[in-house]
Amino acid sequence: MTSADTQGTTPVATVPGDTTPDVSVDKRGPRGAAGGQEPVLSVRHLVKHFPIRSKGLTRRKIGDVHAVCDVSFDIFPNETLCVVGESGCGKTTTGRLVLNLVPATAGEVIYRGQDLTKLSFRQMRPLRRDMQIVFQDPFASLDPRMTVNEIVAEPLRIHGMYGKNNVGRDTIRALLKQVGLNPEHGNRYSHEFSGGQRQRIGIARALALKPKLLVLDEPVSALDVSIQAGVINLLEDLQTELGLAFMFISHDLSVIRHIADRVVVMYLGKIVESADAEELFRRPSHPYTQSLMSAIPLPDPIKERERQRILLAGDVPSPVNPPSGCRFRTRCPKFANELNNHQREWCVNIEPPLEEKFTGHTAACHFAEVRTDILESGGGPTAAASPALVKWPTGVPTDEQIQVPPVCMPKSPPLMPQRLSDDVIVDAEGELVTQGEHG
Ligand SMILES: Nc1ncnc2c1ncn2[C@@H]1O[C@H](COP(=O)(O)OP(=O)(O)O)[C@@H](O)[C@H]1O
Ligand code: SF4
Ligand SMILES: [Mg+2]
Repeated sequence: MTSADTQGTTPVATVPGDTTPDVSVDKRGPRGAAGGQEPVLSVRHLVKHFPIRSKGLTRRKIGDVHAVCDVSFDIFPNETLCVVGESGCGKTTTGRLVLNLVPATAGEVIYRGQDLTKLSFRQMRPLRRDMQIVFQDPFASLDPRMTVNEIVAEPLRIHGMYGKNNVGRDTIRALLKQVGLNPEHGNRYSHEFSGGQRQRIGIARALALKPKLLVLDEPVSALDVSIQAGVINLLEDLQTELGLAFMFISHDLSVIRHIADRVVVMYLGKIVESADAEELFRRPSHPYTQSLMSAIPLPDPIKERERQRILLAGDVPSPVNPPSGCRFRTRCPKFANELNNHQREWCVNIEPPLEEKFTGHTAACHFAEVRTDILESGGGPTAAASPALVKWPTGVPTDEQIQVPPVCMPKSPPLMPQRLSDDVIVDAEGELVTQGEHG
């Protein structure tokens, strides 16, 4: 069974002693699936492998970068779906797959009943109007030889709409005004504008074709903090005004906290947790999400002083050869500090499925546990007395369970069970070593 197969089918955990009310409905009213709306776009079991080729004439394929692995989600109208994770975890590739800018290795992107991954460039062209992208770097993404008017008019010209049906100069002026720029400055070049203003130009260009979905790839990461708020407010206003759906990509949960309706957390190409934003920030359940959350500055200076970051050991492993079992295990603080060797055998040998832990709240961890203390105080890793979400596995996995290949790498050789004796420990780099070897 794949991780997305498990979504919606796993019985929701009943947590003994859990009195936290369920918060799957947004305070601003029912949106997305809760509002009974159809998704603008649905992604199912998306996989992207980039081939690695040898040097020289033959250019033989010698491996794959496993950039995106079995990713599934829906994006609803008038909703901001945020994708968060460290650099290299596959956020940009997922955004580009959604827009069919790179061919998918496997999986589907369903838009208006059609699977975009099966469409040719020509078939895709009319649909491109509905889906636009805003890039991270407002300095590199605007052509310095074009005036702002030309930049914003460019998509209209490409789609043969400029000069027809009253679409012309006034349309460009209205778009510039809509994103908070002075239409009188349309004859200037992009380098005459600040970073925040350039990002507004990029947004005006993306809005020109009246899209239904905007993919915003780290749209404020290159901007000063003081400028970020202005661009985020603009995006929120535009969403309310135009009913747009946003896929908002960022590495920074503190930015996401301001704008997200729903959040998808990615690690090494996989979704490790996803929930409504309010629910996720209240009950982060995956150790990786908890670590990202511990980096968010707290507004209260006393709590901020007490705040303890959950630091992750080592670097993100190579996506060419991801760790067996749980991809996060080489950096997981819970794996290193809290689990015994029987429990670790699950993490080392078995890929944790993305399971529903609360209504609409999924996490991919065998030993998921809510941490409610992170954003409230500076409690340390063991401070929370949180209940287990679903029943943790007991004993050790059987040989048959271990033989199941990883979801999006079915061709990889069958795993040999790794049995961990009592003298195996986890060193500072997350490697399993026997105590004798360790020094
Ligand atoms: N065109 C490409 N060819 C080979 N590898 C790529 C290509 N694009 C991205 N990757 C790799 O895929 C992984 C995910 O990259 P990316 O989607 O850009 O991550 P993020 O946006 O989260 O930083 C990285 O390891 C990156 O090096
Ligand atoms: S499955 Fe194990 S290694 Fe992975 S996140 Fe959970 S506790 Fe950590
Ligand atoms: Mg990126």
